[in-house]
Amino acid sequence: RTAPAVIVAIDGPSGTGKSSTSKAVAAQLGLSYLDTGAQYRAITWWMVNNGIDITDPSAIAAAAEKPEIISGTDPTGPTITVDGADVAGPIRTQEVTSKVSAVSAVPEVRARITELQRSLAGSAEHGIVVEGRDIGTTVLPDADLKVFLTASPEARAARRSGELKGSDIHQTREALLKRDAADSNRKTSPLAKADDAVEVDTSDLTLQQVIECVVTLVEEKRAAK
Ligand code: DC
Repeated sequence: RTAPAVIVAIDGPSGTGKSSTSKAVAAQLGLSYLDTGAQYRAITWWMVNNGIDITDPSAIAAAAEKPEIISGTDPTGPTITVDGADVAGPIRTQEVTSKVSAVSAVPEVRARITELQRSLAGSAEHGIVVEGRDIGTTVLPDADLKVFLTASPEARAARRSGELKGSDIHQTREALLKRDAADSNRKTSPLAKADDAVEVDTSDLTLQQVIECVVTLVEEKRAAK
């Protein structure tokens, strides 16, 4: 018999290895993959490019339904488009990164993106790995497995600086902590560990070790289904 579809939620702050881990686990197990941070970045990119005043939550709310955001869920080549344009590159700029917390704090934005996420999770034939901040708590509270990745601020800043060439590690650390605080303290669906999530501290683990750990957890859940 074929394995039943399995829904995996992976949450945590940035710099914990969430994206690399989620993609690799999905690819190894033949599951779909969804980067929900990319969706929030995409809607932020659209707001910035369409002259929406991102200091005005009501302006953001009024525009929340406008862009068409489509995520391709193949873990070996995930894609993201806004109104048909490939935005995989532009959503990673400093400008979008510095504005995404404000846009993603708006309840109408979260409602819109959450609906897209549930629809993609529900239609994934073999199951899906969904990574984000509120997947286990809000988007997919009935996920088969919830993982919450953490790491020390030092380990996270070091990883992020490695990704951003020529960046200053102290500045990276400050920017990262500021974004986490904003994401953790917002009213609607903040970054949080679900009560039934397995917490994995990745500070002293290699990426390969984290992947193996999560693959084992998924296989255990799948065997029990
Ligand atoms: O994972 P990332 O750095 O690409 O996420 C970008 C931002 O999107 C993050 O600062 C907060 C927001 N986000 C969110 O609010 N909820 C999610 N499920 C995922 C991301």
